[in-house]
Amino acid sequence: MVAETTLFEVFGGREGVSGLVDEFYRRVEADPGIRPVYPADLTPGKEKLKLFFEQWLGGPAVYSEKYGHPRLRLRHFPFIIDEHHAGLWLRHMRQAMLARNIPAEAIAVVFERLAPLAKQMVNAHEDVPREPLGDLILN
Ligand code: HEM
Repeated sequence: MVAETTLFEVFGGREGVSGLVDEFYRRVEADPGIRPVYPADLTPGKEKLKLFFEQWLGGPAVYSEKYGHPRLRLRHFPFIIDEHHAGLWLRHMRQAMLARNIPAEAIAVVFERLAPLAKQMVNAHEDVPREPLGDLILN
């Protein structure tokens, strides 16, 4: 039997994902082009992104155990996100992966899914509900 390596393992498991998201958030925090989209306190969102990424890369599904279905587009409605923000988000994520020495092939695989996902989050020109959702549990 050949053991299948998940992306989660390639990214260094929980520790690796945590380090990656810390790197990403450092870049977001330092970039006036995207920082204003985020709330004053970055900590809760950072922890959620860590749990989400663990799950999304094939690791334990703690995010969904706590919050239910990700429904990412809906969860981003309270934040006004335009195309420029999506580009910056992707750039900071790529830089964070490079800084964590994630292999280029793994970055390529992940970005095939991440790039369209980031574009889906763009909502600036849409009439969507902007009320805060907090820790909403969704099915
Ligand atoms: C396109 C550019 C994006 C921007 C500007 C953006 C911005 C944000 C903001 C402002 C929050 C709220 C953070 C908080 O409550 O502290 C958030 C939450 C989150 N974002 Fe994004 N995001 C983007 C794309 C993405 C993508 C591509 C993913 C997935 C790969 C993602 C995953 C998440 C997750 C899992 C959360 C937490 C949702 C929750 O449970 O409330 N985001 N994002």
